[in-house]
Amino acid sequence: MSRVLVIGSGGREHAIAHTLLRGERVSEVFCAPGNPGMKADGIVPVNLSLSNHSALIDFARDKQIDWVFVGPENPLIEGMVDDFQAAGFPAFGPTRKAAQIEGSKTFAKELMQRYNVPTAAYATFDNFDASIAYVQEQGAPIVIKADGLAAGKGVTVAMDEDSAIAALKDIFLDHRFGAAGSRVVIEEFLEGQEFSLMCFVRGDEFWSMPISQDHKRAYDGDEGPNTGGMGAYSPVPQIPSSAVAQAEETIIKPVIAGMVAEDNPFTGILYAGLIATADGPKVIEFNARFGDPETEVVLPKLTSDLGAGIEALLHGEEPVFSWDEERTTLAVVVASEGYPDKTVTGAAIHEFDCSATQAEHGTHVYYAGVADSEDGDDLVASSGRVLLVQTTADTVQDAQNIIYDILDHTDTTGMFYRHDIGFKAIQ
Ligand code: AMP
Ligand code: GLY
Repeated sequence: MSRVLVIGSGGREHAIAHTLLRGERVSEVFCAPGNPGMKADGIVPVNLSLSNHSALIDFARDKQIDWVFVGPENPLIEGMVDDFQAAGFPAFGPTRKAAQIEGSKTFAKELMQRYNVPTAAYATFDNFDASIAYVQEQGAPIVIKADGLAAGKGVTVAMDEDSAIAALKDIFLDHRFGAAGSRVVIEEFLEGQEFSLMCFVRGDEFWSMPISQDHKRAYDGDEGPNTGGMGAYSPVPQIPSSAVAQAEETIIKPVIAGMVAEDNPFTGILYAGLIATADGPKVIEFNARFGDPETEVVLPKLTSDLGAGIEALLHGEEPVFSWDEERTTLAVVVASEGYPDKTVTGAAIHEFDCSATQAEHGTHVYYAGVADSEDGDDLVASSGRVLLVQTTADTVQDAQNIIYDILDHTDTTGMFYRHDIGFKAIQ
């Protein structure tokens, strides 16, 4: 039996830790910094900062942790896996160098270009005038992306030239994204449905998970600003399995083989954000980690032991990952009012009563931005995405019915959620 330290604090880390505890291999999970909502599932939050690697390593020594799972992008890009490994702990996730596949859009684009991986045509700019000239030459629709990490908010899909120019002004003249905006990638607009393909990767080997679809826009009908993700479901029936097989052949395989060939092997979770275009799947982004909220709908489908699978990967053995390929999982995010632009935190969190569908449908609440109330008896919303309710059912509609019944019968004052998660599967 193993003791595991999961790094991160969101719904994704709650789902990772919960799935580890569902299996036989892992007996105890600490989550740093975690959140108090996780305690209901027997996960132990550890109040340590993500940026203090040496304090985290001391904690792992003190608690005799067997291995570490690093969830979010920032610590990966800051080399947390390298630091834990140097301290003698097996750590699952890419090294600082390999995490550049997410940390730098330019790195990812150049890698794809070298290995002929289908992606949107693009150009990179570090000054305003040249970027404007390019937009005028290419015309709209066109996509503007701040290089570096901008928490999913650095992207503007401009349907006309004026919005493209406004986005470039924001980045170059108003420095909206700080350092992340000193360079811009301008991309061809890809037409088609989006899906997320996540894989366990070790060097040039990979094990795909079922695909899922996120909902990036804040409001119903895909209106409003881009967010970190407002809900997801899996599988995505309107994406044919041939498109997934094609994505594995033309995208995942050459990219991970390329990283091995360039002495920068990737181990961890590789997330490909894809658009199913008329010419086949094309990449819009890579992440070097599990997606959020995709993880909260994909991991509940895992029928094998997550801890055993990751330990096999860490020890150079053949892992086993098996999935419930029949049923649909769906999850709806509850966010603080005003998210993502003017988030107002502090909403009281009332109990979401999942008991009616818990046994048959595995309905579950995963907590993200929550803190203890002042008296310590309740939870309050402490950031944009607060929690998510997930369930498993035979169809998207059945899953929606279960979740919206729970949400509509709970007091969510001070928060909001989308009412149409999964709508593209039932149009
Ligand atoms: P990203 O942060 O790169 O995932 O982009 C945020 C969202 O913008 C994506 O989820 C897509 O919906 C959209 N997007 C990004 N790049 C493109 C593109 N080249 N063509 C069409 N839509 C895009
Ligand atoms: N759901 C998208 C992401 O995790 O980046």
